[in-house]
Amino acid sequence: MVAVTFVGADGSARQCSGTAGESLMRAAVRTGIREILAECGGIAACATCHCYVEPPWDQRLDPRSDVEEAMLEAALEPTEFSRLSCQITLSPALDGLVVRLPADQI
Ligand code: FES
Repeated sequence: MVAVTFVGADGSARQCSGTAGESLMRAAVRTGIREILAECGGIAACATCHCYVEPPWDQRLDPRSDVEEAMLEAALEPTEFSRLSCQITLSPALDGLVVRLPADQI
């Protein structure tokens, strides 16, 4: 299992256990992280799975694809730490991952 902590806009932390090979978005939705809406089902076409990956975890992720970059431009308040959670594949190397959730998706 891959442990992930989601930190809400109010600072509250929620734990999630994902499976290696599963997307971060799927793990969040399965766990009931309501801020991750994932309206497009994970095809990088909605940006409603936007999250901020806490450093230094951001350095462990594969770079954004061109499609992800383009979609993040449609997200509200993107930062250098912004990612689409549907484009992050969980792995043992991400065990302990911490991500922050945007307030605008609530
Ligand atoms: S679920 Fe739509 S962009 Fe990630």
